Amino acid sequence: MSKQMIKRGFPLTNEELRLQETLFHTANGYIGVRGNFEEGYPTDFVTSRGQYINGVYDIAEMKQAEQLYGFPNKKEVILNVADTQTLHLYLNGEEVTAFSQGVRELTRILDMEKGTALRTFDWKSKEGQAVTVSYRRMTSFVLLPLFTIEVTVTSHDFTGEISILSEHHGSATNFVNPNDPRMAAEAEDYLTVTETLYDEREAYSKITAETKTSELAVQTLVFHDVSPQLDLGLVEESDSVPVVFDGRLTAGETARLVKYSLFLDSRRYNLMEDGILLKQAVQEKTLEEWYQAQEEYLQHFWKQAELSVGGDPLLNESLDYSLYSLIQSTGKDGISNIAAKGLSGEGYEGHYFWDTEIYMMPFFTLTNPEITGKLIEFRYTILDKARENARILGHKQGALFPWRTISGTESSGYYPSGTAQYHINSDIAYSIIQYYQATGDLECLIDYGGEILIETSRLWLDAGHYEGSRFVLNCMTGPDEYTCVVNNNYYTNQSVQYQLRWLVKHYPLLKEKNAPFLEKLAVTEEEIAAFEAAAKAMYLPYSEELQIHAQDDSFLGKPILPIEELPKENFPLLLHYHPLYLYRHQVCKQADMVLAYFLHDESFKTEEIERGYTYYEKLTTHDSSLSSCIFSIVANQIGDVEKAYRYFEESSKIDITNSHHNTQDGIHAANMGGTYLGLVFGFAGLRIREDLLELTPRLPKKWTDCRFSIKYQGSLLHISVDKEKIQLSVIEGAAVPVSVYGQKAVVSLGNDWEIPYRKER
Ligand code: BGC
Repeated sequence: MSKQMIKRGFPLTNEELRLQETLFHTANGYIGVRGNFEEGYPTDFVTSRGQYINGVYDIAEMKQAEQLYGFPNKKEVILNVADTQTLHLYLNGEEVTAFSQGVRELTRILDMEKGTALRTFDWKSKEGQAVTVSYRRMTSFVLLPLFTIEVTVTSHDFTGEISILSEHHGSATNFVNPNDPRMAAEAEDYLTVTETLYDEREAYSKITAETKTSELAVQTLVFHDVSPQLDLGLVEESDSVPVVFDGRLTAGETARLVKYSLFLDSRRYNLMEDGILLKQAVQEKTLEEWYQAQEEYLQHFWKQAELSVGGDPLLNESLDYSLYSLIQSTGKDGISNIAAKGLSGEGYEGHYFWDTEIYMMPFFTLTNPEITGKLIEFRYTILDKARENARILGHKQGALFPWRTISGTESSGYYPSGTAQYHINSDIAYSIIQYYQATGDLECLIDYGGEILIETSRLWLDAGHYEGSRFVLNCMTGPDEYTCVVNNNYYTNQSVQYQLRWLVKHYPLLKEKNAPFLEKLAVTEEEIAAFEAAAKAMYLPYSEELQIHAQDDSFLGKPILPIEELPKENFPLLLHYHPLYLYRHQVCKQADMVLAYFLHDESFKTEEIERGYTYYEKLTTHDSSLSSCIFSIVANQIGDVEKAYRYFEESSKIDITNSHHNTQDGIHAANMGGTYLGLVFGFAGLRIREDLLELTPRLPKKWTDCRFSIKYQGSLLHISVDKEKIQLSVIEGAAVPVSVYGQKAVVSLGNDWEIPYRKER
């Protein structure tokens, strides 16, 4: 089945188009271009015409109502860089747009195997002569700075003048929405054009622009390839360069123009030289060859990331879209990461959160582990800033990663649901441990991961203290942003305990390997013993009365907010209630305790999880898109497969159906990862244990089967589950130790393992 998302004959409303700008964006982890119409919209429409470079930001002022000590007064913001999307098409002087009278067959196709986004429509002139217009876009996975638009105009019975105006604007402005805390409230013109070059013969222009404060520069090169009907017309020079191509089109003919754009930035490229070299590299291949290379890249991607279910075609579309969005969003160069909205929009100002480590990294760890390696490397590059951040917060030792950032500077303005989320430290640690367990990549642990583990562990010892025999962590916020600055958030304490225990256990290995960071950081045996003692004494709150684990020390004593009784239009609650009102109640924005049941499942008995799940489910609004997928996974853990399916369906379609009503500001990238988790960790029940892969498959009624491939310790493993059997095959690499429903085996090349599907649990 081909992997396509298709929209036909959709309404040309502003709302729909803003949504489609996000859904049809094209990105490759380095650049992202929103799916705007080349010709633009009617003037009264709101649009965020956007193009972004991952990791390219400026510094904006962060206004604090009261500037208390250590509150950030600056923040990093992703930049909307040069606009090279604009093209205007004229036939006999009449502008051809999707909004013209008589437009038919308006279609958009995101082809996730070819890696292109196509928009086509049929158009008729005032005289009734017809043409078919198409715009095909590609953001190359093979040459990351490259973005192409191929325009074709096929005449059915039109004969006359054709003219295409192609624009290149050197800077663009960020989008603002002062009424939504998830968006920027104000924006400046961050970029100033410093140099514009153009070459008339080649219809080529190069514009360089500099940021106001972060001292970064962005360069865009635009050049064209045209079919014989079109001749180069007029060229002008300014901050933006318009180029006109004129010609004649006769019935039966097709005119074609290819607009190549290259996006470069000063963090990765030498802007004096690299642009020209890249332009030459682009011109050495035809567009068809670039398309071919894109398809080959994606063939490999889909082979590694195969994932499908039988009996639910619509769900497969959202699964494909989720995985495709993840590969479109992720930085792969060690200096960038994955923004909460990927490269599809400006929501959350392009910041990287814990979303990466807990929600998105597992997908890469199990399908493209090199990418996880790079994401870990990124965290390592900001470790010094995390050390500084810890000092600002008064910690004498260790590192505290910023809650939201682009290049390491804490950019969250509201500390109770920002900086206070210390769990980002143990989330990063957790992802490093998972990566190591899945790949055995000791080098990464020695070069980057180990130092992060030590520095974050040191922070925990400094942030916590002993109360009698208990080690406690006070004044922190867990994942649930409706309950802030509490003592002993269970999720945090347990994740810290897990991190400390793992580090203590693996310290002898690191020592044996003479890991240089041990000497660099002057790690002592006493310190390791202190980690061990804190882990052992870690306080994990529990209510004897309710027989459940408590989200934190005070949570269960608060009045319950009856969310069932609140008017529907008051959700998400964060837009309708003062934070203090929410903090004073038992109400959860997202999975918190329930996330602990998933990530630390081995620490709980199933009955305990069942009781806790039932309790916290009633209190959770799922106002965060990071929630339903976790509730789905844990519903599977407790054997409620149909409930798991309902949550899974909800979470896998959040963007495609715009159920959170803000996809126009960008995709919910964490939820895309959550969809993967929901299938692989939820229904297939996969866990990456220390010495094997564990599976506990369960299928909902609707599905006939599910299948997926994963990488484990360098081997490629294929897993298929139907209602009769589970089959595991090694496709490449060495034997893989596995356990299915607790039964252990080693699967090797040519020796598949089949075991019966367990119908009842
Ligand atoms: C969630 C956070 C998340 C952030 C970015 C917030 O709404 O509560 O957990 O990190 O969005 O996705």
